[in-house]
Amino acid sequence: MLRRLHHEQPASFAFTPANLEWARGQISKYPEGRQASAVIPLLWRAQEQEGWLTKAAIEHVADMLGMAHIRALEVATFYFMFQLQPIGSVAHIQICGTTSCLICGAEDLIRVCREKIAPNPHQLSPDGRFSWEEVECLGACANAPMAQIGKDYYEDLTAETLSSLIDRFSGGEVPRPGSQIGRFSSEPAGGLTSLTELGAQSSELNGSVALAVGIGDTVKRIDGTEVPILTPWRAGRG
Ligand code: FES
Repeated sequence: MLRRLHHEQPASFAFTPANLEWARGQISKYPEGRQASAVIPLLWRAQEQEGWLTKAAIEHVADMLGMAHIRALEVATFYFMFQLQPIGSVAHIQICGTTSCLICGAEDLIRVCREKIAPNPHQLSPDGRFSWEEVECLGACANAPMAQIGKDYYEDLTAETLSSLIDRFSGGEVPRPGSQIGRFSSEPAGGLTSLTELGAQSSELNGSVALAVGIGDTVKRIDGTEVPILTPWRAGRG
């Protein structure tokens, strides 16, 4: 796929105050003269804030790190995880299309996206609220087929459950991530066949889902206030 900057670009970019503080914390992890090492986290935070990476954001990050603009552009255009075009204002849906998910029905999920969102990947829905793309393996193969929606994983999907998830997001809900057929994590879909004494889980949600539910930032644009900024090594540096 050709990766180039979007034809329509905003005039400027600025981090929110909390994201700027967070960015300064990231830069402080690296020795003097090596600030460019923070380029990926800063680009990522700019994307989390805006939804996608604008030219102004890429150049802003380059300026913060003392890099030539082309160096930051090279990074942004190389990695597919960086969105170079606007994404849906409610959610961007990333369907895994790799082997396990493909065997288990990823094509049905892509059909739902084509019908409900837009015919082509990276195309906004007519109301601008959703977008989708097919991505490579996201590492949740045991719970195939799955999709990443915003920051979190929705697993054990069918065309019907994905369609219902999109409707719920559209209605302002943030459905609970994780398995959509009630699996705790990646145990056998038919129930435990060994170590059955471990079957009684101490909590209803696995660690990942519990964090997602606790922080509640699945499809939120990140402004930096979601979690405390932890940079203890900066204490006393001013
Ligand atoms: S193949 Fe889909 S998560 Fe690995």
